[in-house]
Order: sequence, then C-alpha cells, then structure tokens
Amino acid sequence: MLLLTSRKCVLPLLGIVGLLPAQEASPGIPIDHQLTITKCGGCHQRDANGMMRRLSYIRTTPEVWEEAIKRMVRLNGLSLKPEEARPILKYLSANNGLAPEEAKPIFWEAEHRMFRDQSDKIPADALQHTCNYCHTIGRVLGQRRTKDDYEKLITMHLGLFPGSENTLRPRRPSGPRPEQPVVYSAPTGGNPAVVGAPPPAVPVRADGKTPAEAAVEYLSSAQPLLTPEWAAWKAAMKAPKLEGKWMLIGYQQGRGRVFGTVTVEPGASPDEFVTRTELEYANSRKTLTRTGKSIVYTGYSWRGRSTGPKGTSSDPGSEPAEWREALMVSRDGNSLEGRFFWGGYQEFGIDARLTRIGTQPMVAGGSAFSLLSPSTTELRIYGANLPADVKPADFDLGSGISVKRIISKTPSVVTAEVQVDAKLTPGVRDISINRITAERAFAVYDKLAYLKVTPDANMARLGGVVAPKQFAQFEAIGWSAGADGKPNTVDDVPVGPVAARWGIEEFLATPDDDDAKFVGAMNDLGLFTPNIEGPNPERRKQSNNFPTNNWGDVWISATYDSPGGNALKARSYLVVTIPVYVRYDQPEVGQ
Ligand code: HEC
Ligand code: HEC
Repeated sequence: MLLLTSRKCVLPLLGIVGLLPAQEASPGIPIDHQLTITKCGGCHQRDANGMMRRLSYIRTTPEVWEEAIKRMVRLNGLSLKPEEARPILKYLSANNGLAPEEAKPIFWEAEHRMFRDQSDKIPADALQHTCNYCHTIGRVLGQRRTKDDYEKLITMHLGLFPGSENTLRPRRPSGPRPEQPVVYSAPTGGNPAVVGAPPPAVPVRADGKTPAEAAVEYLSSAQPLLTPEWAAWKAAMKAPKLEGKWMLIGYQQGRGRVFGTVTVEPGASPDEFVTRTELEYANSRKTLTRTGKSIVYTGYSWRGRSTGPKGTSSDPGSEPAEWREALMVSRDGNSLEGRFFWGGYQEFGIDARLTRIGTQPMVAGGSAFSLLSPSTTELRIYGANLPADVKPADFDLGSGISVKRIISKTPSVVTAEVQVDAKLTPGVRDISINRITAERAFAVYDKLAYLKVTPDANMARLGGVVAPKQFAQFEAIGWSAGADGKPNTVDDVPVGPVAARWGIEEFLATPDDDDAKFVGAMNDLGLFTPNIEGPNPERRKQSNNFPTNNWGDVWISATYDSPGGNALKARSYLVVTIPVYVRYDQPEVGQ
C-alpha cells in the first residue's frame, strides 16, 4: 500500500524536486564551471545570476557530491565519462564544499571509522531515529542547504526509497493495527486482500510534527547554506603545496605504533599528488613500502589510495593490496591528520599524522609505551634529521631516567640504552633531544594494577563465502594505579598494550546456544576472525527446525601475568552478526 501511494508521487516528483520552472527565492551559490553547466544544465537550469537549480543550494563533502552524481547517471540517464566526472566533482567540492571547521567534526565519516554506535554523534533529538536509520549520521551532518532544498531532499527520499515514509512521515504509530475486513480486491473475484484507505499521517512526536518536519526545521537553522566559516574559507582557499618529505606517526590497533616517512610528489594537476610511504611498526620492526596517488579537495581534504608490493601477506590486519587514505591538511599546510583504512568494512586502519620535514631535527616518539621502574632497556627513538653526533647527554627523558649509551643511530632512528631508577612516580614523560621534544611519549610505572580491554564492546560480521568477513580487533591495555596507588582514580596511568592471552567465553543470553563454539576465533594479537556466514548444520536447530547461523554474542577475555606476579584479567563484549547483504551505494572518491 505504501509502495503504491509513493509510486503515484513519482510523476509530480520532477516538479517537487525543483527541476521544473519554479521560484528559488533564497540566495544561492553561483556555478560558473563550463563543463558542469554543460553536463548538468540540461535538467538543472541555470538562471541569469548563475544559479543552477539544486546545485546552487547545496554545499557538501566530495563523497555526497559523488553519490549524487552517480545517481544522476544511474537513475536520470546522465552520461558522463570518468574524465568529465572528476573535474565536476573537484569543482563542486571547491565551489560548494564545507569549510575545514565544518568538515572536522564529521571527518570520521570520510575516515570510515568504526563505532559501536553513533548516538553520541547525533547533535539533536530532531535527527535521532529519523536520519540515522539507513545511513550514518555523518552523511546528514556533512551538508549545508537552504530550507527549500532540505525539503527536496526529503522528497527525493520519499520518492526513491518508499520505505523511508515509515521513518520520515509515518502514517501510523508502531504496534498492531485493528483488524480490517478481508475482501476481494476486484468485483470479478481477484485475490482476497485487505483493502481500505491508508490511515492518515499521525503525529509520532509530542510537538505534533512529523519526524521529517522536525529534521528539516533543525537542519535549516543548524546547517544553513551560507555560513561565515564557508565565506572565510572560500576566500582563503589555495592549492595545497604538499611536495616534499613528511614524517609519519601512526597507531594501528593491535599492532601498535607506526613511524615512517611519506614522500609527496606533484601529480597530474596542482591538487593531485603521487606518494611513496615507508613505515615501520615499532613493536614488530616489520616494515612496509607503498606507493599511491591522492587528490586534495576543497583545499584541505586529502583522499588517497596506496598499494603495496604484489603477493603480500595473508594476514588481513596488515599489508592489504590497497589501502585508502582520508586526511585533513592543516591550514598552514604543514601537517595532515586522518586515517589509512582497509578491510571488507574498513575495519582496519592506521591513525596517521604527517608533519613536514624541514632542515631541523624532529623527534617523533619512542618504541616503548612505558618503562618499568626500575629497569634497563633498549629504546628506539624515531624522528627525522636526527643529529649524526648525538650523545647520551643530549637526551632528556625526565628525572630518574638516563641514556647510558647510544647503541646505533641513523637520521631517522636512534637506539639507546636507557636506565630507569627505582621508585619513580608513575606518570607520562616526554622525550627531548637537545630541546626538541616529543610530548607525552611514554609512561613510567612500577607495577600494573589492572587491565582493560578496548574497545569495551565490538561487532564482527560472519563472512568468507559470499560476503567479506568483518574482523574485530581488541587490545589489552595495562594500567598503573598512579601516584596515589589507588586504582580507578584520576591519576591512573595507561602503560599501553600488553601481550595478553585471549579467549572467548559464553555470554549467557540464550541457554545452551554455545555461541562461543561457533562465532569464530581469537589469535595472539587480539584479532577476532569470525566464522563463515550461512546456516550451519552442526548447530542446534531453532524452534522452526531450520539450522541456524554462526552468529552470537560472547565475552572476549584477556589474561596477563604481570611482572609483579599477579594475573590480571579483563573482558569485552562482542556481537557477531550476519553480513550486510544489502549495500546501498558506497560513495568513494579519489579513484
Ligand atoms: C537528465 C536530467 C538530469 C541531469 C542531466 C542531471 N540531473 Fe541532477 N537531478 C535530476 C533529478 C530528476 C533530480 C531530483 C531527484 C534526485 O535527487 O535524484 C536531481 C537532483 C540532483 C541533486 C540533489 C540531490 C540531493 O542530494 O538532494 C544533485 C546534487 C544533483 N542532481 C546533481 C547533478 C549534477 C552534479 C549533474 C551533472 C553532473 C546533474 N545533477 C545532472 C536530474 C538530472
Ligand atoms: C529509508 C532509509 C533512509 C532514511 C530514513 C534516510 N535516508 Fe538519506 N539516503 C538514503 C539512501 C538509500 C541514500 C542514497 C541515495 C543514492 O544511492 O544515491 C540517501 C542519501 C542521503 C543523502 C545524500 C544525498 C544524495 O544526493 O545522495 C543525504 C544528504 C541524506 N540521505 C540525508 C538524509 C536525512 C537528512 C535524513 C533524515 C531526514 C535521511 N537521509 C533519512 C536512505 C535513507
């Protein structure tokens, strides 16, 4: 019924979506790019002031622009070659983009970060349970429109995705409806059917508005088309000058710290670059070399891809054939920050920060998260342009810690023997070489008080037959009780990941379902690999007598025998669910 009602809307839709002559009262953003006008202007008419229908009233991220353009090709018959799509996407992202301040709070969307849920990212009740049902809230927060255009966006949803009516403009409260009589659908005796007029829209909100009205009202005031931030950025925007060498500091969950360099060379146009990344995982000393390409949209928004040497490892957590990059360039053009990511659900990634290497020495950080008091250890200190004549006295690691000798040195890493005195107060220290400092580079502790598994809840998806697996990475983080010796107080110090023994334990929700036997397996690095998808004949039958899947929910447990002798234990909750079988368009830019 809903489907039929909505289909009827499709013809008038062209008028409603604003492509047919109608007034477009609010001020917009002129479009003056010839290719965009040629390719899009046939339907999105341009007026004497350069305003194009729809296009002039939207600002958004490269991803949302790309998605809209793909839909124009898919549903509206637009024909576009890749070499035409690219400049249009670049133009729209620059002419109708987001200011860095507007993009920063939702950059996690471009970075494809995993969250256990996004409720804490939803700024207003008006968007809760309205705009985050089918896609992430990031897509909603990453756009700025006029009120009129938000209304058209709603119309597009209702027209193209009839199911959205249930969410945006529900016609009935949830719950059972009163019985309706069954009648024959045609007097000649068609199939019996429940017919009757659809019930009128009923308010599901206390204020009497439909969820769509509440969302539009909120969005048009909180995310208007024209903002001072955008006006300021558009005036300041310039082609980023990123050629040169960059120091990379990164962190990959489960693999630890990453140090390296990224060499950036000019690409085909001033906003395109060619990269060579060389990095080392500080824990394992494993090195990777990758080459890639990137495009910088809107003057600051880096989207890249990089590939490794052929025939790389079968370990899903490292050396993917390709990884993607979403980084934000700082306003001064001297640092970039974001994520390199890969995996069937982009669940693997390196949080990366790049800093331009000049002529001065730079200190990136150390190989250890923490040093035990007392102890003597080898510490590798990574950086750039490190002095060739560096001596123990040049180091400052705070009181009670001294460099005894330099074991080896190159311009990018110095290996030093470090002595940590007894009875040092637990806390976080810096690493300085001749007053050049990596802040909060490591912790000092005397014993571990407890363990925490991060994240404290996680999700994985069965896969491997038709769908990819979604892996889940855990870390066991050791904690010191801090100066006061009392655990769980503000001065507690995280001493970093420890090599725990991992296990899967039953989470008692359904009696005898033995989830722990079926969901998958943990390895020594805290990586959970889910089982395959589809029914498993080995598994207890459901009440309807169909074999069930390998899904379930379990505890992931970590056990660690700390040097002090006590065994520490902690756990996290893991839900293992089915693959995402229906995939809406996955907007990707930078191809
Ligand atoms: C053949 C006609 C046609 C052409 C050509 C066309 N469009 Fe559209 N466009 C539409 C229609 C119809 C809609 C309204 C329905 C929808 O949103 O899909 C629309 C809507 C849009 C929207 C609004 C979507 C939203 O997020 O609310 C954007 C943005 C857009 N078009 C961009 C473009 C760009 C960019 C081009 C040129 C590269 C283009 N269109 C070319 C027909 C066209
Ligand atoms: C019923 C599911 C559903 C709901 C609810 C929903 N969306 Fe969407 N939305 C989609 C789908 C599917 C697309 C992708 C369209 C495509 O493939 O081109 C989309 C695309 C978008 C886009 C990108 C625009 C474009 O041109 O593709 C924006 C912005 C957006 N939605 C905002 C919203 C807002 C705001 C709300 C709440 C008022 C909302 N969505 C609620 C399904 C939904």
